[in-house]
Amino acid sequence: MKIFLDTGSIEEIRQGVDMGLVDGVTTNPTLISKVKGKDFKTVVSEILKATPGPVSIEVVAVDYENMIKQALKIRELGENAVVKIPMTVDGLKAIRDLKQRKIPVNCTLIFSPIQAMLAAKAGASYVSPFVGRLDDISEDGMFLVEQIRSIFDNYDFQCNILVASVRNPVHVVRAAMIGADVATLPFDVLTKLTEHPKTAEGLNRFLEDWKKVSPEGKFLL
Ligand code: G3P
Repeated sequence: MKIFLDTGSIEEIRQGVDMGLVDGVTTNPTLISKVKGKDFKTVVSEILKATPGPVSIEVVAVDYENMIKQALKIRELGENAVVKIPMTVDGLKAIRDLKQRKIPVNCTLIFSPIQAMLAAKAGASYVSPFVGRLDDISEDGMFLVEQIRSIFDNYDFQCNILVASVRNPVHVVRAAMIGADVATLPFDVLTKLTEHPKTAEGLNRFLEDWKKVSPEGKFLL
């Protein structure tokens, strides 16, 4: 399963890439609004350059014509730019058009399995089910991912399931067990993936015991 960072922060992307854990990035207008002191084009261009993989950038139009205009501008910024289009009737029309132009689309704001199927039929390269926001309203976000996986497998849809609105490492484990193609994570969830209290405890114990071999803790080879 690929791991993307869900962020607008170039610092987080650079750190994640340096850790070797980032296959791509997703942004949205809310994440971009948190970046201060830089214009949108600069922020997006920096992110595209710093990311060793696809970067989803969202349109902010709700009508088909303007979605296409914005999508073309987004795509001009880099070969790794993926256009994020919301799940609406105009959005589906835009996805069909962009598919013809060979521009990859991430269909966002997916909250039902049928929405995901329609986006895949229209030609989206990715669908983004928002699992955390479903959990927030006492639904099971990961069940939606299972449903989408079954539908895509039944019909051999070549559309990536990109699990979004991830809130914790358990979402990531369940996404991998279901066979999602990508999970996009906030930076704090990414850093938690490597951690386990027993790993930290075990490492401390090894280092303490090594002092019985070498009181200064030196490696002796
Ligand atoms: O990128 C979209 C999605 O990941 C948003 O997550 O936490 O705002 O529900 P959240």
